[in-house]
Amino acid sequence: MSLLTVDELTVTFGGRGRKASRAVDGVSFEVDQGQVVGLVGESGCGKSVTSLALMGLLPAKGLTIGGRAEFDGTDLFTMSPSARRDLRGSEMAMIFQDPLSSLNPVVPIGVQVTEILERHRGMKGEAARKEAAHLLDRVGIPDPTRRLKEYPHQLSGGMRQRALIAMAVACAPRLLIADEPTTALDVTIQAQILELLKELVDQEGTALLMITHDLGVVAGLCDQVNVLYAGKVVESAGRRELFAHPTHPYAHGLLGSIPRLDAPRGEPLNPIRGSINDRIAWADGCAFAPRCDRYEMGCLSGTPQLGEPRAAGHQVRCVNPVLDDAKAEEVPA
Ligand SMILES: Nc1ncnc2c1ncn2[C@@H]1O[C@H](COP(=O)(O)OP(=O)(O)O)[C@@H](O)[C@H]1O
Ligand SMILES: [Mg+2]
Repeated sequence: MSLLTVDELTVTFGGRGRKASRAVDGVSFEVDQGQVVGLVGESGCGKSVTSLALMGLLPAKGLTIGGRAEFDGTDLFTMSPSARRDLRGSEMAMIFQDPLSSLNPVVPIGVQVTEILERHRGMKGEAARKEAAHLLDRVGIPDPTRRLKEYPHQLSGGMRQRALIAMAVACAPRLLIADEPTTALDVTIQAQILELLKELVDQEGTALLMITHDLGVVAGLCDQVNVLYAGKVVESAGRRELFAHPTHPYAHGLLGSIPRLDAPRGEPLNPIRGSINDRIAWADGCAFAPRCDRYEMGCLSGTPQLGEPRAAGHQVRCVNPVLDDAKAEEVPA
């Protein structure tokens, strides 16, 4: 059994005068211990809403959640709020894109880390302070004893994200959800943070749900990848399989739009035309149809279902998938 099983998750906002909008529309995936699973897609496709729903952090007003999510066999959505809160502090942790808004600006880093250790691991005083320094050291923050006394604004963006990771791992979570943890950081720091997350997974067997719009992150980190479009998984496969054979035209386009160093000079990048707002309702057909080069009439006869047109375990939601792709891309190791 997987550590996290998400089955047909739907999240709908609104109602009461406002038109209800479905941000997540029947998403299913699993995350095993020690596994890195990616949720990938452009801005607005439902990545953050999925993660916040799993963490129980969406504002309740106007919210409707459907489907099931089980953590270690326990149904997250029927849990009592207090049990959920306990789980959130101990077994499930999340790191966000913007470290500054997730840290308390008026409380020194050290106090914020030791609070977690006191609350969740029952540590006190000097022991908690020592462990906090150890955690900062572990995530690569130099001179941790001095840093513990500093406030979030005194740290660089990369150091703040490290501090947040230290806080997330302070309670040794079994599942870490990272929502675009490196988007706000520059490239070198990004690589270091990703390396750090990889280390945690390897050393602690932590399960990692990695949320990103960046296929480079997926290539370097994820075992299994789910590509989201307008609230639905449109393609799901192992990383190698996905990079070798992107089969949904959206995933195919995404992979084709990664700049390649060996591309001839002056060759245009190949971003997918239009935006996620150019879409039709899934009920009427494929939401990606208005942007799709492979569009045909069949794309508008109801929601395409996930199928396995290419290989077992490689799921694709498309009536006209890319099966004839001769240019096999080199696959990241
Ligand atoms: N609290 C909310 N109320 C209403 N709509 C929301 C709310 N949060 C997110 N949405 C909508 O849900 C969709 C998915 O958003 P989100 O999950 O944040 O996308 P992303 O993939 O960029 O993380 C977007 O259309 C967004 O406008
Ligand atoms: Mg987001």
